[in-house]
Amino acid sequence: MAEPHAIYLKDYQPPRYQVEHTELRFDLAPEATRVQATLQITRAPGTASDAALVLAGDHLTLEHVAIDGQPLEPGEFEVTDRALTIHTVPERFRLDTEVVLAPASNTALEGLYQSNGMFCTQCEPEGFRRITFYPDRPDVMATFTTTVIGDQAATPILLANGNPVERGELPDGRHFVTWNDPHPKPAYLFALVAGNLEKIEDQFTTQGGREVTLQIWVEQQNLDKTAFAMTALKHSMRWDEERFGREYDLDLFMIVAVDDFNMGAMENKGLNIFNSSAVLANPDTTVDAMFQRIEGIVAHEYFHNWSGNRVTCRDWFQLALKEGFTVFRDQLFSSDMNSAPVKRIEDVALLRTAQFAEDSGPTAHPVRPDHFIEISNFYTLTVYEKGAEVVRMLCNLLGWETFRQGSDLYFERFDGQAVRVEDFVDCMAEVLNLDLTQFMRWYSQAGTPEISVDSAYDAERRTFMLTLSQHTPATPGQEEKAPLQIPVEMGLLDEQGVDMALVIDGQSLGSSTVLNLDESTKQFVFEDVPHAPVPSLLRGFSAPVKLKQTLSREQLSFLMRHDSDGFNRWDAGQQLALKELETLMAAYRRGDEMVLDEFFVETVRSLVETPASDKAVLAEMLTLPTEAFIAEQQTTVDIDAIHQARRFAIACLGDTLFEAFETLYTQEQSDAAYAPDFDQIAQRSLKNVALAYLCASGRDDAFAYARQQFEANANMTDVRAALTQLAHAGDTSIGDPAIRAFGERWAHDPLVMDQWFATQVSRPHEDALERVRFLMAHPAFSIKNPNRVRALIGTFVNQNRVNFHRRDGQGYRLLADVVIELNRLNPEIAARMVLPLTRFKRLDGTRRALMLEQLERIKAEPLSRNVYEVVDKALTSA
Ligand code: PHE
Ligand code: ZN
Repeated sequence: MAEPHAIYLKDYQPPRYQVEHTELRFDLAPEATRVQATLQITRAPGTASDAALVLAGDHLTLEHVAIDGQPLEPGEFEVTDRALTIHTVPERFRLDTEVVLAPASNTALEGLYQSNGMFCTQCEPEGFRRITFYPDRPDVMATFTTTVIGDQAATPILLANGNPVERGELPDGRHFVTWNDPHPKPAYLFALVAGNLEKIEDQFTTQGGREVTLQIWVEQQNLDKTAFAMTALKHSMRWDEERFGREYDLDLFMIVAVDDFNMGAMENKGLNIFNSSAVLANPDTTVDAMFQRIEGIVAHEYFHNWSGNRVTCRDWFQLALKEGFTVFRDQLFSSDMNSAPVKRIEDVALLRTAQFAEDSGPTAHPVRPDHFIEISNFYTLTVYEKGAEVVRMLCNLLGWETFRQGSDLYFERFDGQAVRVEDFVDCMAEVLNLDLTQFMRWYSQAGTPEISVDSAYDAERRTFMLTLSQHTPATPGQEEKAPLQIPVEMGLLDEQGVDMALVIDGQSLGSSTVLNLDESTKQFVFEDVPHAPVPSLLRGFSAPVKLKQTLSREQLSFLMRHDSDGFNRWDAGQQLALKELETLMAAYRRGDEMVLDEFFVETVRSLVETPASDKAVLAEMLTLPTEAFIAEQQTTVDIDAIHQARRFAIACLGDTLFEAFETLYTQEQSDAAYAPDFDQIAQRSLKNVALAYLCASGRDDAFAYARQQFEANANMTDVRAALTQLAHAGDTSIGDPAIRAFGERWAHDPLVMDQWFATQVSRPHEDALERVRFLMAHPAFSIKNPNRVRALIGTFVNQNRVNFHRRDGQGYRLLADVVIELNRLNPEIAARMVLPLTRFKRLDGTRRALMLEQLERIKAEPLSRNVYEVVDKALTSA
């Protein structure tokens, strides 16, 4: 096989031919679907008249090709696995092609495929070329008319983008529907669905008075899981009008739930396709966190209608233009709808573990990558989450009102166009007359900047000097890093824990201010400081950086209690816990007995015993840093020490503070009818955190609580929390009956079975890996379904670190086996699943060698471009 080659941003060329209108006709059949395309094509101004027309087409069987009705002679065109080239074409013409596809055997889930018999499509980023020959690039935007022909009985519902304009019956029990989408769009937003579906319907009136019909299409048995998403959709539509002044632009908005889907969901114009796990929910089957995730994803896809669809990306290097902005928008939405501090805590936690890990590994890349082999590999935490942080920094820099003006300007100026990151940033610069040249480095420079802090109080001069330095470690292909513009929001706490008035150069800055760290090192001298303050830095996590600051336990505990910034209160608690865990890990490594420090226990006690003003935040405060987060702080990651120390700390807290947790657990019971709302979610999470500590003590009465909660069967959130505690008990006889009962009860519901898989394979027991292999043979598991793979394999690999990193290398072997199989079936998922095997840099030599051995084993296979790119980067960096 030829080695896949990279594509570079610097090589971008505008399209030589544009498509004005695209007419498609699908004659659906599982093994042989016929796709006829009629494209109205014009040569772009400035293009030479002898420029060949090159249309992308991925392994298509071409049956017919004609220009202006004239079939082409063999010498006039050339077809390969990847493209159709027509040597000479007129300036304006009509191109007709016909191809045949086999959706039933498409396991990659890109292009046209089948899921539970339903036909559906996934075209982003380059799936449309698996459907028909086309200039499959986002800077070619056309209006679409799509006729879908299918079997009446098997596919009574036929959907595509836009509005239905015609329908009718055909011979042989077939029928058709024609759809028209008047908004020019790139091919990646094309969608088609055909199946035996039912819907719930609702209505939404836009600010401007447009009556929009909203539909959620699902398989019949899932109708009772659609109400929540519908509400979320209406909230999103209203919110986007109120916050961003953005209105919906068609008369119909549809969501379809599909079981086999590589990602969360897809923003196809007027016809969003969702992974069923990202839309279906009800109290009996869905946990609180899932309800919130669904609300966020529904919003995200809806928001794309403006940030992504109306204004789209010029090329795929600009992916963060739509994703970073849209994630930022969905974060704001979720924060308005739920607990704002908890939303921020969760987002930052994800960034600081998973995204930072990406930044420090072989697949590190800038928010806007400058080259790729396979663009599907760049739907990453860096593009999405760090991309959102960059937009957040812009928003904070400008202030909300001005940011909103910039956003209005952007949508107005570029409506209907395919643009670049610069175009977005320029709008922001323009409204405030800012120079954002240096800021643009956030898009081009990979890696996580580290900020070190030095400070000195001068009692005589009453000054406090703060020195901030930045350094971004080298990443593959980027040795040298230039200084970034880093906004560091901060305050200074006085002895009472009150924010001091900040003064620099005689200028009064209020009680919290943003320092602009735009050089390698910068000094800030605060004046009129009556005594040595405790600095609170990076409030609200004002920049995606690692803050390297050494504060004492006393200072951390002080910040945890007094900081006026909620995020930093939580973070101080996390840093404090981290310090404690580090002490325990050191003891563990020395072979000493681990002893939990009294000061720490009392700090936690006071949290548990003080009536909470915000239960949601308290639940977060009581949660120790995850193993992944702890690992991210270490230069050499000690898998076992992290696990043992953390487990010990939880068990010890549960035991020592048993009564306090018991009181909390009892207090936070409620028999209100379930609702996934703010107050209830807060209360349940606090209660279930208490339950986890109680059970960690290992005491019988704790498990009695869990059993009771499991059997009460009030809602999935409580059932699942109880099941987890029972199943994770050291003595498996405690969990086994509950595992069995749950598995039998929910055998018919794949999304609940995913939770059943996840609960079992995340337990720390020594036989967890054998359990994974065993469950892979369970009738509810299928390697072809990405949700099953994520629930069973993904959970094991990411949430069961001691077992994945087993010293005998069996965890790595298991993952490699799965990757090799997936590489043939579904390259996109394979390339995602392999990532944990590439994070070997900071592991011990034994584990590193074992991981590399598995990577070599994978490399020896005939690889997809997707897996090749990741594995090659990993091995090159080793
Ligand atoms: N564009 C989708 C989103 O962010 C994600 C996606 C990418 C879905 C590629 C499918 C394939 O909402
Ligand atoms: Zn998106």
